[in-house]
Amino acid sequence: MPFDLAALLDQHRGAGATIFNEHVNPKWGQALKLIGYDRAYVRAEGAYLWDAHGNRYLDLIGGYAVCNVGRNHPVVRKALIDYLESNAPSMVQFETPVLAGALAKELKKRVGRDLDRVFFTNSGTEGIEAAIKFARCATKRPVMLSEHSAFHGLSTGALAMNGCASFREGFEPFPSEFRAVPFGDLAALERELARGDVAGFVVEPIAGKGVHFHAAGFLAEASQLCHKHGALFIVDEVQTGVGRTGTFLAIDQEGAVEADMVVMSKALSGGYVPVGAVLCRTDIWEKVFSRLDRAIVHSSTFHMGGLAMVAGLAVLSVYDEERLAERAIESGAQLRVALESMMARFELMGAVRQRGLMLGIEFHKPRSLALGVAWRMVHALDANLFTQAITMPLMAEHRILSQVAGHAMPVLKLTPPLALSSDDGAYFLSAFEQTMIGLHRFPGPGWAVLRRMAGNALGTPSRV
Ligand SMILES: Cc1ncc(COP(=O)(O)O)c(C=O)c1O
Repeated sequence: MPFDLAALLDQHRGAGATIFNEHVNPKWGQALKLIGYDRAYVRAEGAYLWDAHGNRYLDLIGGYAVCNVGRNHPVVRKALIDYLESNAPSMVQFETPVLAGALAKELKKRVGRDLDRVFFTNSGTEGIEAAIKFARCATKRPVMLSEHSAFHGLSTGALAMNGCASFREGFEPFPSEFRAVPFGDLAALERELARGDVAGFVVEPIAGKGVHFHAAGFLAEASQLCHKHGALFIVDEVQTGVGRTGTFLAIDQEGAVEADMVVMSKALSGGYVPVGAVLCRTDIWEKVFSRLDRAIVHSSTFHMGGLAMVAGLAVLSVYDEERLAERAIESGAQLRVALESMMARFELMGAVRQRGLMLGIEFHKPRSLALGVAWRMVHALDANLFTQAITMPLMAEHRILSQVAGHAMPVLKLTPPLALSSDDGAYFLSAFEQTMIGLHRFPGPGWAVLRRMAGNALGTPSRV
């Protein structure tokens, strides 16, 4: 029998979790069930997902900031179909693929900064691995610096620069050549740089974990400090790139940042095909790919696949055509203003952090006695629990997907498609307000859910 995708999907309709849990990752299946995210989606468009019963969900996670152009964007889909139908030769390897050249040229147009060479990857973490290798090779120094709070991916090198113990546990040892400085601490950065052994400092312009911003001027000054001490300044725009924060790169809003490498990925995929890119100064690149026999000294089998390059090119054209960065600025600001206006009424709300459509809503210990008791009780049960009291009713009662901003963080994080409509924004705000009203009653069902969860299993995993 020839392969029949529709028949396969039909065969498992309504029971997709069974085959997944049996053969892939039952723990993940269990965790999703615990927080009520064990839904099976059968269709997606823009910011929406649909289940088999025709219920529509508003997706404010966007595949971990992958779907900047929205899911199944018609322009990206058509480009991919056109490519498939052209019977194009992909992954010949012994070739110089035109599409890779074209995507590199388009990326450079938008990034500028004399980052004139582009190395393609299949993921964000692979981009970070490439940057580590390039930095060491170009500087002939061993040490990579990062921030304690960082998330740069989960492959070995990137994990060595990951500040979260819950990701690191069990995968030790981490080489001593990976050192970290506190978030946003210029003095600590300079102390480390002054040791003279640092190849590069890798930094997220905005920490995805918790959605934390650096102080104004930090990134520019950090880049200058790196150069003063002969180290490279490497910007991880895997999550913040392609308009997420209202400009093509987040560092475009940060003054005179002297970037030596910029790592991108996620949204370039259009939510379809993994794509990543490391934009790099030519003199660094020349030190890595220094001779003919080193022409592919760093490489990977899939790294310039035709579908991936087409996805990236189509995404960039949609990004321009639909003015996605400007729209992210407008709708993000509207959401922030509305959320801030709720803070006076809801004492659990501590801060709203927003740039473009990257939002973090931080909760904190309330002042009133009863809510303070509830807060302490929940944190005593499990530091990971609290924010699920927001994500769970948003899903259960409003069919909205949202996420916790990091392990044990009382921060709700939103990274929706950049063309989020004002109606969808208003729908979220109303759902969030109702959730807050529920949680500001103790005892009440909002808190009881957490007690039940704690009884079932402690904690649920969170990415950033
Ligand atoms: C800032 C940042 N860097 C790197 C990565 C790793 O990317 P990937 O998951 O594609 O390996 C992520 C993923 O969430 C990220 O947010």
